[in-house]
Amino acid sequence: MQIINEPEQMQAIADKLRLNRQLLGVVMTMGALHEGHLSLIKLARERAGTVILTIFVNPKQFGPSEDLHRYPRPFEQDVALANAAGVDYLFAPEDGSIYPEHFQTTLQCGAIAERFEGQQRPGHFNGVATIVTKLFNITKPHTAIFGEKDAQQLAIIRRLVADMNLDVTVVAAPIIREVNGLAVSSRNIYLSSHERSSAGALYRGLCHAEQRVANGEHNLQTIAAEVAEMINAIPECRVDYVSFVEEESFALAERAKASKEYRLLLAVFCGSVRLLDNMKMRAE
Ligand code: PAF
Repeated sequence: MQIINEPEQMQAIADKLRLNRQLLGVVMTMGALHEGHLSLIKLARERAGTVILTIFVNPKQFGPSEDLHRYPRPFEQDVALANAAGVDYLFAPEDGSIYPEHFQTTLQCGAIAERFEGQQRPGHFNGVATIVTKLFNITKPHTAIFGEKDAQQLAIIRRLVADMNLDVTVVAAPIIREVNGLAVSSRNIYLSSHERSSAGALYRGLCHAEQRVANGEHNLQTIAAEVAEMINAIPECRVDYVSFVEEESFALAERAKASKEYRLLLAVFCGSVRLLDNMKMRAE
């Protein structure tokens, strides 16, 4: 595995690989790699001949009250994990080469970025869209893998690619879950062992909703209220939001229409840790 720090060098390598008819797959991360990231790399390996992993803790997606400097950066450990996972190129730039002096152009997402996580973290998705676009231009991939775990981010990146005519195929990687159904996330390390087992309630809530939708309940608000009640009944858990969206547009959905796909989004505090989860479901 080759480690590249400079955008121009990464671009030159990507150009050369493309000339040699290599299919390039990219996985973008902020490091602190875990099982979830490794599953994205595995999927990239299946889809592409050359896998590029990016590690960059993007300051533009952190709000003023979020502690960018405390974000974990276990670089040596990430290098070892990436190497073992079969990454060909690790692109790990410094802040200054991504956002040099005089940098001022950023992307502005639409309404899709203002609800849910966007409401909680104003400007966050504009920062994500900006860095993802820059990393597309630097790594020049044919395919990019993003996790379904961050469903709103995935929807925004799909919108970005379509709206800006970006020449890349976005592939969604399924959520990796622990034995009790808890979705693998970098935030899970902050859960106590008791909270970790209580957090299984999120997956039970999603499965309940999936059953209700499959059994023909069309009132999605009723189902969302049931899920919230189930989760809030666990002493450590407090629901922030439980909402159905249309899978394609990410617009809020209140009533299910036959054969349409929906996604149930959850944000739940488990102790002081805010957990996200979601599940796609198809109405009968
Ligand atoms: O999902 C993440 O880790 C980040 O939002 C991403 C896509 C790497 C952009 O910084």
